[in-house]
Amino acid sequence: MSDRSLVIQSHTGEYRAHFVEDALSKLNADIPEGAHFIIDARVADLYGSEMKNILAAPSVLRIEAVEPSKSLDKFPGYVDHLVSHAIRRDQLIIAIGGGIIQDITCFLAATILRGVAWRFYPTTLLSQADSCIGSKSSINSGEAKNILGTFTPPQEVFISTLFLGSLDERDVRSGVGEMLKVHAIDGPSSFRLIAGDYERLFSEPQVMIGYVRRSLEIKRPYIEEDEFDRGPRNIFNYGHSFGHAIEAATDFAVPHGIGVTMGMDLANWVAVRLGLSSEDHFAAMHSTLKENYRGFEDQLVPLEPFLAALSKDKKNTGTGKVTLILPGADGYVAKSQHANDGAFAEICRTYFESGRTA
Ligand SMILES: NC(=O)c1ccc[n+]([C@@H]2O[C@H](COP(=O)([O-])OP(=O)(O)OC[C@H]3O[C@@H](n4cnc5c(N)ncnc54)[C@H](O)[C@@H]3O)[C@@H](O)[C@H]2O)c1
Ligand SMILES: [Zn+2]
Repeated sequence: MSDRSLVIQSHTGEYRAHFVEDALSKLNADIPEGAHFIIDARVADLYGSEMKNILAAPSVLRIEAVEPSKSLDKFPGYVDHLVSHAIRRDQLIIAIGGGIIQDITCFLAATILRGVAWRFYPTTLLSQADSCIGSKSSINSGEAKNILGTFTPPQEVFISTLFLGSLDERDVRSGVGEMLKVHAIDGPSSFRLIAGDYERLFSEPQVMIGYVRRSLEIKRPYIEEDEFDRGPRNIFNYGHSFGHAIEAATDFAVPHGIGVTMGMDLANWVAVRLGLSSEDHFAAMHSTLKENYRGFEDQLVPLEPFLAALSKDKKNTGTGKVTLILPGADGYVAKSQHANDGAFAEICRTYFESGRTA
């Protein structure tokens, strides 16, 4: 076992995230007996020659990684596949893909036969640097995104930067968005560090993998202390209430981590106008955040659907308030509640009109 692996304590025991560059070829050479594979269809196409044996295994479910694939109404098809391949409780589901494949696999592993072990080979930057640890599964039902879910850690995670080379640039920046978030949560000096290396992330794989690992290290104590997200872990929603509303209002034209990047920028903007933090704090993060949502700065985010999505957020339903993670005077983020009124709507409107491109 590599000593570079990260050990995470969970309610089900400990699990490890390994950094193994040849993880895929090792898996391809030695397929666990009784494994059921759930694979991102695009990854299966791109890495077909590296995963010949995997793709020829008896139980392989290829899924297109688009949001509707993690809708509840798609699950009977997935269950049928596993049942027709005679899944048993002592078997294993292996996910190869990004956050969408993770959410689908994790949810299935949590519920089918009341629980089957799963392993994860994350292939997107977002899933490597953020979602692969923390146990959450989240699937969509109807219009409600991530409304159903469980806390079901994988048995093991295998991280390999080899996958990152084939990602579209927007998906790389989506992952970088979550990395910026994690570093901002760690505090202003951590954010300055990654922001200072922003360009190098894209050109130097060793710099990137260093920050991937650092992102997981920052997240680890929060998920160990508060795996079920009842308290301290809440701050990882920084940028997310706004980000989810941006994703929903644009019909998912904006990738998750890009929405989160814009969501952090908006959170910083709102915090200044609510008197919580300074214009300097907004400005200090804005240039890096703006660089990271580049290409989406003119994306129309219609205000009414945006505000409607925000009040439908599972944390806000029926309260007339919004629960937000916002920066305070010291630059550290914290949770607070605010009236979801006309003044709040106006602050959001000015951001999309002028703040975003400032
Ligand atoms: N469960 C959690 O803790 C958690 C956390 C964050 C996000 N999420 C969810 O994850 C989803 C977003 O996940 P994501 O950003 O990882 O991406 P994704 O799974 O949506 O994939 C994005 C795109 O990249 C492609 N792709 C994947 N790996 C590739 C590779 N190596 N090379 C080329 N293309 C590749 C996919 O086919 C897809 O087109 C959202 O649904 C979000 O809600 C879940
Ligand atoms: Zn996220």
